[in-house]
Amino acid sequence: MEIINTIPEMKLWSDRARESHKTIGLVPTMGSLHEGHMSLVRQSVATCDFTVVSIFINPTQFGKNEDLDKYPKDLESDTNLLESAGVDVVFAPSSAEMYPEGYKTFVTVEGITDHLCGKSRPGFFRGVATVVLKLLTIVRPHTGFFGDKDWQQATVVETLLRDLNVDTTIERLPLLREPSGLAKSSRNFYLSREEMAPALSLSRALDAARQRVQNGEHSADRIKQEIRQTIEANKQARIDYISVCDPENFVELDEIKDKSLIALAVHIGKTRLIDNCLVRRVECKE
Ligand code: PAJ
Repeated sequence: MEIINTIPEMKLWSDRARESHKTIGLVPTMGSLHEGHMSLVRQSVATCDFTVVSIFINPTQFGKNEDLDKYPKDLESDTNLLESAGVDVVFAPSSAEMYPEGYKTFVTVEGITDHLCGKSRPGFFRGVATVVLKLLTIVRPHTGFFGDKDWQQATVVETLLRDLNVDTTIERLPLLREPSGLAKSSRNFYLSREEMAPALSLSRALDAARQRVQNGEHSADRIKQEIRQTIEANKQARIDYISVCDPENFVELDEIKDKSLIALAVHIGKTRLIDNCLVRRVECKE
């Protein structure tokens, strides 16, 4: 496995791979890898000739008071995991390499970024869209792998590629959970033992909501209220948003329709966690 730190070297590697008619899969990450990331990596290794994993804690997607400085890092353990998974290249550029002095260009995807995480983290999707487009231009993969853990992010990336005619196909993979139900996330490393129970309330609340929808509940308000109660039963939990929305444009729904997204963001102490599930409307039997 090669570790590449500069853009010219990465481009040269990709040019050579393309010249030899090999397919390239890219898994963009911010490192501190867990099984959620590795499910994307395994899919790329299984379906593409070459797999590139980028590890870059992208400063432009963090707000001023967010966790950029303390975001977990463990390059050595990440590279060991990736090597044993059969990855060909780790692309780990520095911030100065990606955003040198005089850097001026940003990409914004409009409309769908006004909701959910886009609303509570202004500038977040501008940073994500910019870095993803840069990574795709540098690595030129045939396929990019993204997780539904960050449902809105994957949709923003799909929209960006469609609108800017980028020749990379996006493959989305399901959200992976701990046996406890907690969505796997690099930010789970921040959670103290006391914060585990409140953190688990996100997936518990979503499970209960999914069950209610299966039993014929259609009211978005009633579903959101029940989720709120489950989460607020924990003192350490502070809700950022609870949304029942259209899974493509993230507009709030009054009623569950066929394919609705239930999405949550909750602060547990200093850690912000997100979770989501897709539900389908079930008509009540008379
Ligand atoms: P990061 O949080 O490191 O996640 C990298 C990829 O792993 C994303 O596509 C994310 O959805 C996926 N992922 C994370 N946890 C997952 C889980 N539990 N199940 C399935 N997939 C999971 O998302 C980012 O980095 C950044 O915003 C990035 C796209 C790299 C741009 O900087």
